[in-house]
Amino acid sequence: MKKDDRIIRYRAAERINHWIVAISFVLLALSGLGFLFPSFNWLMNVLGTPQLARILHPFIGVTMFAAFMLMFFRYWHHNLVNKEDLLWARNIHKIALNQEVGDTGRYNFGQKCVFWAAIISLLLLLLSGIAIWRPWFASAFSIPLIRAALLVHSLSAVGLILVIMVHVYAALWVKGTLTAMVEGWVTAAWAEKHHPRWYREQRNRSTQQEKRP
Ligand code: HEM
Repeated sequence: MKKDDRIIRYRAAERINHWIVAISFVLLALSGLGFLFPSFNWLMNVLGTPQLARILHPFIGVTMFAAFMLMFFRYWHHNLVNKEDLLWARNIHKIALNQEVGDTGRYNFGQKCVFWAAIISLLLLLLSGIAIWRPWFASAFSIPLIRAALLVHSLSAVGLILVIMVHVYAALWVKGTLTAMVEGWVTAAWAEKHHPRWYREQRNRSTQQEKRP
């Protein structure tokens, strides 16, 4: 395999799935910040009008949750933590200087943390979101429970926004990553540098395919 050979990292269905999650996230984060802070009220207009934002926000939230669940079932097994990840975490200062450590597989420890933080906060957002969803479900819950759910919803939303800021920064900072989610491919050099174990798996697979009659 040559350095600038392309390796497929995400198929079209996976990329569409990811961008549905990402677009929903942006709409939810902006309209949600609009609900939360009076000085950001104008952000509600991202969904047309404040009234429309109030109606659409929960439906977009359920869409994002359902789309992320598809990603969860696709990728959970690639995000299980192993001993290479502990090496990566102990050497985070080297990672920050753009040096790689350990025999990283398809995802590194940082990506795995984003993955698990996303599913935990999305579960909290869904459960608390149902409890505060007027007029459909909120009337079934007591006022103290609705207050607690509002607090959980706001805290997990702010937590997820911070996590996704790190995710987007990493995607832009590590050169050659964005094409993975936009066009579906990465170069062999990128894979070998950042995900050496995954690179070897892909190289072995392509060698086996070439050998087949
Ligand atoms: C808003 C802008 C976003 C950008 C620019 C972006 C960019 C990317 C890129 C380039 C990758 C490929 C990384 C790789 O394969 O090494 C990726 C993967 C991924 N993204 Fe995003 N993303 C965004 C939003 C989101 C959001 C909102 C979520 C979830 C709440 C998310 C969840 C994921 C997951 C789960 C993966 C696969 C990595 C893993 O399973 O550990 N992304 N993203």
